[in-house]
Amino acid sequence: MKLLINPSNKKGRINPEIQGHFSEHLGRCIYEGIYVGENSNIPNTNGMRNDVVDALKEMKIPVLRWPGGCFADEYHWMDGIGPKENRKKMINTHWGGVVEDNSFGTHEFMELCRQLGCKTYINGNVGSGTVREMSEWVEYMTFDGVSPMAELRGKNGHKEPWKVDYFGVGNENWGCGGNMTPEYYANKYRNYQTYVRNYNPEHPISKICCGANVDDYNWTNGVMETCFRAPEFLHGFMDGLSLHYYTHPLGWEEKGSALEFDEKIWYITMKKTLYIEDLINHHAAIMDKYDKEHKVGMIIDEWGTWYSVEPGTNPGFLYQQNTIRDALVAGINLNIFNKHCDRVKMANIAQMVNVLQAVILTEGEKMILTPTYHVFKMYNVHQGAELLDSHLETEMVGLEEQNMVPCMNESVSMSEDGKVHITLTNMSVDKSYDIEGTVFDSQIKAVKGEIVTGEMHEHNTFDAPDVVKIKEFNDVKTDGGSLRFTIPPCSVMHLEVTI
Ligand code: AHR
Repeated sequence: MKLLINPSNKKGRINPEIQGHFSEHLGRCIYEGIYVGENSNIPNTNGMRNDVVDALKEMKIPVLRWPGGCFADEYHWMDGIGPKENRKKMINTHWGGVVEDNSFGTHEFMELCRQLGCKTYINGNVGSGTVREMSEWVEYMTFDGVSPMAELRGKNGHKEPWKVDYFGVGNENWGCGGNMTPEYYANKYRNYQTYVRNYNPEHPISKICCGANVDDYNWTNGVMETCFRAPEFLHGFMDGLSLHYYTHPLGWEEKGSALEFDEKIWYITMKKTLYIEDLINHHAAIMDKYDKEHKVGMIIDEWGTWYSVEPGTNPGFLYQQNTIRDALVAGINLNIFNKHCDRVKMANIAQMVNVLQAVILTEGEKMILTPTYHVFKMYNVHQGAELLDSHLETEMVGLEEQNMVPCMNESVSMSEDGKVHITLTNMSVDKSYDIEGTVFDSQIKAVKGEIVTGEMHEHNTFDAPDVVKIKEFNDVKTDGGSLRFTIPPCSVMHLEVTI
C-alpha cells in the first residue's frame, strides 16, 4: 500500500485543543477520579490526585472542559464557592441521583488546570440559569478591579483573576439543556453571550454556541441562521459551534459491552467511528453558508465510545473498560480531526477519568492508563504542528457488506523542529499491511517509531496494568525519500521521520 507525503504542501495548523478532554460531575470522574480532598490518604496536592495529574501532564493535556455535560445546565456556580462546610448539597438528577456536595467548584477547577498547565473551558448554564448568573460567573472568574464579584473572589482566597479560554453558553440545549428549538436557543444564545464580557482584552474568551447532536442539520442551520442575522463582522456572536457524536456500536438502547464483542461488532464500531467525517463535512457545509471566512471553529466537545456500563456498577455512573478497540477509535478520530484542522479547532473526548472512553481508570488508590491514554500520548506530537498533505492507499475490510471499512487511516504533520510525524491506524482484525511511503523531495535521515497494538480485546486491569502500552517500533527500512514497513492488525502507530 502506498503512502504519499508532500512536506511542502502545508494544510494548516493543528490546534493543540483537538486533543482536549472533558470532565463532568458524573459518577467517579471528578470525585475519586480527580479530586480526593486535602485530607485523603491518596497522595494529593490541594485535593487533586498526584498520580492522575502527573499522568495527564505527561500525556500533554491541552484543555479541559467542565462542569458538564447535562450537569452544566443545572449547575449553579455560587453553590460551589466559599467555605466547603457551607456549600449547598444538591441532587445530581442526571447522573445516579447521588448527593453533590459542591466541594469541587470554580476554585478547585482552576487549581486543577493550574496543576495540569492546560487551558480552561467552562460550560455555563442556560437551561436553568439566568443571564445574571452567567454574567456574574464570568465577572467572578476574570474581572480584575473593583466589583462585587471580584471582591467576593478575593474574600474566597483568590485575589488574582483567572484566565477563561473558552466559555460554552449552554450544553445540549436541544435535549438535557432545556429541550429548546434551534431558533429559541439561538435567540437565548444571542442574549446570554452578550453578558459573557471580555474583561481582559489581552485574553479574550472564546464563546462556544451549542451545536447539534449527530446529524441534526436542522439544528445547525436554524442556530446559524438566527445568530448570523447581524452585521458580518460579529460572526454570529460566536467563536465556535459545538457538535456531539458518540460511537455506540449497537445503538443507543443496547449499547453493547466494552469487553465482550466479536469481529462483526469490531467492524461496526470502526464504521460508526468513521461516520464522524461525514458529520464534519455536512455540518461544515452548513456553517460555510453563513461563515464564509471560517471564523467559527467546529468544537467537537463530546466524542468517544459509549458502551453499556461494566456489570455491577451504578448505571448512572457510565463506567466502562477500554480495549485495543478503543485505541483504534481514538486513533481514527484524531487522524480525522487533524485532516479537518481548518474547521475543527477543539475536540474533547468524553470523559477524562472513570467515565465512558476514559484515558484513566481509578480504584481507591490505584490508577491505570487505558489504551486510549497511550494513543493520546503517542499523538501529542501533532499538537500545534502543521498538517501535511498526505494520501494513503487502502482496501475495504470487514465481514458484512454493509459494514465494510477502509483498512487504514492516517494523518501527517510537521512539528516546529521540522520532523515529520505519521500516525496510522490499521482497522483490520487479522491482516497486516506492507506500506511503501514516499516523502517527496526529501532525504530521510532517521525514523523512530512507536506502536499500540494487540489482540482486539486486550486491556489493562488493576491487577495487570501494562498489558497494553506503547512499544518501540523500529522495523522501518529507508532509502532516499522512501520508507518501508509493515503495520500489524489492530494497531495504532506513530513514526517520527527526520528529513
Ligand atoms: O458525557 C455524558 C453526557 O452525554 C453529557 O452529560 C451530555 O452532554 C451527553 O448527552
